[in-house]
Amino acid sequence: MLQNLKPLSLYIHVPFCKAKCTYCDFYSIVGRESSIPAYLRSILKEIEQKTRELDLSRYYLDTIFFGGGTPNLLEPKHLGQLLETLLDLAQAGENMEIGMEINPGEASLENLKAYKALGINRVSIGMQSFQPHLLTFMSRIHSAEKSLSTYDNVRRAGFQNVSGDLIFAVPGQTRDEWVGDLERLVDMQPEHISTYSLTVEEGTALHRWVKAGHIKMLEESVDNGMYDWGRDFLEKSGYPSYEVSNHARPGFECRHNLNYWTGIDYLGFGPAAHSYFGGRRSWNIQNLDAYMSDIMSSGTGEADSEMISQSMARNEMILTRLRLTQGLNLEEFSMIYHEDLLQTKNDILKKWADKLVISDGHLKIIHGGWALTDEISSDLMSLTH
Ligand SMILES: C[S@@+](CC[C@H](N)C(=O)[O-])C[C@H]1O[C@@H](n2cnc3c(N)ncnc32)[C@H](O)[C@@H]1O
Ligand code: SF4
Repeated sequence: MLQNLKPLSLYIHVPFCKAKCTYCDFYSIVGRESSIPAYLRSILKEIEQKTRELDLSRYYLDTIFFGGGTPNLLEPKHLGQLLETLLDLAQAGENMEIGMEINPGEASLENLKAYKALGINRVSIGMQSFQPHLLTFMSRIHSAEKSLSTYDNVRRAGFQNVSGDLIFAVPGQTRDEWVGDLERLVDMQPEHISTYSLTVEEGTALHRWVKAGHIKMLEESVDNGMYDWGRDFLEKSGYPSYEVSNHARPGFECRHNLNYWTGIDYLGFGPAAHSYFGGRRSWNIQNLDAYMSDIMSSGTGEADSEMISQSMARNEMILTRLRLTQGLNLEEFSMIYHEDLLQTKNDILKKWADKLVISDGHLKIIHGGWALTDEISSDLMSLTH
């Protein structure tokens, strides 16, 4: 019986990649696949340590997600070992979502079938674009054909919950190319589509090129125009958006991400993985070797942690809920934080009156305001109220 239990999500960070993409600041390393066995020993030890440390008897496992980096660089038997240990942490939910990220061209049909047999039931494919020159610009090592064949193989392996990731607003990308990428992905009929505007992250090659003036990012108005067009097109094509970057056929929203965004507890394992548990956020050291040696000597790879104060939690609720299409439930907000946002932030709500609406007791951003979600949230998030 799960009735009195709370949901828990688990995240496993797989930090290995075959090549580093120019724009990516996620923790991943190239040419270190020989360390996979040692990485596995460390992560298994980290999970076992958590099993001893935490009382998870009041939780059930709702979602598990293997992200990266590149999880398909782990053999099915390795993922199987990890899953078996993870499932010892707490009681399994009835209809657990177990997802993994796959890079196009990197998982054989045989491996995909084996992942499916392990219980993995959702796959997200990092297609990014179908335009050769954009894939080259981003240093992606796959071709459009590999995205198609990987998608076919994922279907052949029996996955019924499949997502495709696309990136837009890439320097050199025309509006027609963005339209073409979206049309092509919609034609493939995945259950879920993520669309990310290319962001310049510090420490990446893209950041260095932009800073040196070698590359110019697209104008904000062009980026926003591509976003608005994409969101409308996906809506009309049967993929309503449920979050700023995420669109799904009804019933196929990514539960794992929704859990992050709605404040459900989660535990992360592996280098650079984050956890949020019992009002405390912690993060593991972002270095594979240091993570492995810390785990082996002390059983934890934690770099630091912080308790989430009432005002931090309030701000996070505004930030994450306004990114969701369903918006911020004003009654829930007032019950938790004893604050009537309509009064305390009346001036800000007036300022953004043409971008916000209140319907069904939820504060929502309307069409034409989505691209400004971060600005609107940050105005509402001030620490004093
Ligand atoms: C970090 S990747 C991990 C999964 C897999 N390795 C892949 O490349 O798809 C997850 C998603 O984040 C996207 N991403 C990473 N950095 C980004 C950036 N700076 N701007 C936009 N999307 C980004 C990736 O392209 C991918 O779709
Ligand atoms: S985008 Fe994916 S494949 Fe590229 S470096 Fe980042 S994690 Fe690796």
